[in-house]
Amino acid sequence: MRQVPQYVLIGNGRLARHFRHYFAGLGVAFKTWHRGQKVQILEQSLQKATHILLLISDQAIEPFIDAHLQDSDAVFIHCSGSLVSEKAYGVHPLMTFGISLYAPEFYPQIPLVIDQDAPPFAELLPGLNHPHAYLSTALKPKYHAFCVLAANFSCMLWQKLFRGFEAELQLPKNLAHPFLLRQMSNLLEDPERALTGPLVRNDQVTIQKNLDALAGDAFQAIYQSFITCYQQEKSL
Ligand SMILES: NC(=O)c1ccc[n+]([C@@H]2O[C@H](COP(=O)([O-])OP(=O)(O)OC[C@H]3O[C@@H](n4cnc5c(N)ncnc54)[C@H](OP(=O)(O)O)[C@@H]3O)[C@@H](O)[C@H]2O)c1
Repeated sequence: MRQVPQYVLIGNGRLARHFRHYFAGLGVAFKTWHRGQKVQILEQSLQKATHILLLISDQAIEPFIDAHLQDSDAVFIHCSGSLVSEKAYGVHPLMTFGISLYAPEFYPQIPLVIDQDAPPFAELLPGLNHPHAYLSTALKPKYHAFCVLAANFSCMLWQKLFRGFEAELQLPKNLAHPFLLRQMSNLLEDPERALTGPLVRNDQVTIQKNLDALAGDAFQAIYQSFITCYQQEKSL
């Protein structure tokens, strides 16, 4: 007979809160623990645990296993996109998790990128159903660098525009929402032709005006590095 999974979710940060919310609506058995609670509570939960999700900071994952999980024969899973560990399988949710929780029906749509050496999905995460892919751990650093470049850095660029509109131009930031949404849908529809603007047109006069307008701003160096990057990519 197949074992009934008993999950333990460790942590109290952004991802842990999302997982708690997701699992509560899922109907799988789970317990939670974070370091604000007594260790005895963790020890009790570990007795029946079959799967332990380490939803804590990357650098804390291996020390936590060494300190608390030596006697457990559960499956250990971490969610870091960059950590490669012999002590736990990596299952990276390809998503951003901030303070706001998502609708329960959204969570199963989140793709999971799983370490190549991990067990089959039904053994690794019984009771869950997600689009998923297995990735060689040798490629994980490159994978995570792509994720950070695309998601985190584009977020910083849009934050710059929103803040700049309000603080420097006295324009409401939501004036730019259709611009952002169209850029996103163009990327999804035709990524190779989604880029427009002075770089694509090779409009040196406008590029120089943009750089001058950003004098004294930390983003001038970002703009310059994008010019270099664009030229290098084009020459490939
Ligand atoms: N947030 C995302 O968008 C996202 C996306 C994909 C993957 N991940 C991965 O998810 C994991 C958690 O990230 P997060 O964004 O949730 O981080 P976070 O909001 O900063 O939360 C980190 C949690 O780790 C706990 N922690 C730190 N050191 C610890 C230790 N030594 N022992 C026990 N607990 C410790 C913190 O406890 P305190 O609250 O007591 O400080 C906190 O609850 C990371 O591996 C991250 O790479 C995050």
